[in-house]
Amino acid sequence: MRLDKCMEAAQIGSRKQVKKLFKAQRICIDGQVATSLSQIVDPALQEIVVQGKQIALAGASYFLLHKPAGVVSAVTDSQHQTVIDCIQPEDRATGLYPVGRLDRDTEGLVLITNNGPLGFRMLHPKHHVDKTYYVEVNGPLSQDAPTFFASGVTFLDGTRCQPCQLTVDFSSLEHSRATIKLAEGKFHQVKKMFLAYGVKVTYLRRISFGGFALGDLPLGQYRTLTQTEIQHLLTYFD
Ligand code: URA
Repeated sequence: MRLDKCMEAAQIGSRKQVKKLFKAQRICIDGQVATSLSQIVDPALQEIVVQGKQIALAGASYFLLHKPAGVVSAVTDSQHQTVIDCIQPEDRATGLYPVGRLDRDTEGLVLITNNGPLGFRMLHPKHHVDKTYYVEVNGPLSQDAPTFFASGVTFLDGTRCQPCQLTVDFSSLEHSRATIKLAEGKFHQVKKMFLAYGVKVTYLRRISFGGFALGDLPLGQYRTLTQTEIQHLLTYFD
């Protein structure tokens, strides 16, 4: 779409105001000052910044999905249902992908977008995006467990994790429940951390991610992010 049409879609201002911003070199495409209001841009693939703020475009889609177990965090899969298959065909814009991954047997919050650079930025270690998980395990989580996790867990293979916060909700010899908050995203991280403590994760659900909470969104359902949420995302992860 043409840049001026894109400005119109994002409700940046009147044509006169957009022209003024353009002349003042306040519109940037992928870090470069826009050279013409008739230049062709793709809001799903490019970062369009007006007066220092990335704009929320009608062209980019943002969904928050409550992923069920059995669904894979991928765009396509020859054997299993994917998180993209969970989006209704009429909402399935081109280029949708999940921001980060949950294991196939993990339930919970997955952000889905077709804003190309956003996922990369959200997952960049410099942002330390917090994730909270509700966890059930097959053994006790004793009084020492929060300190064990707060000290930085070392996986059985020697990999070190950053300190994280464990809150035990219930503990017994055969079954315990807890919530854990961490900022990293290592492969199978939660399962491996509990394994290092000496118990096996029997159920895992991500309940928050980067300031977004699952709330009471039913399993398998998704919702569109509000304009305020999108603006927050684009401003925070710029
Ligand atoms: N940690 C895991 O072990 N699995 C997930 O799906 C997410 C975090």
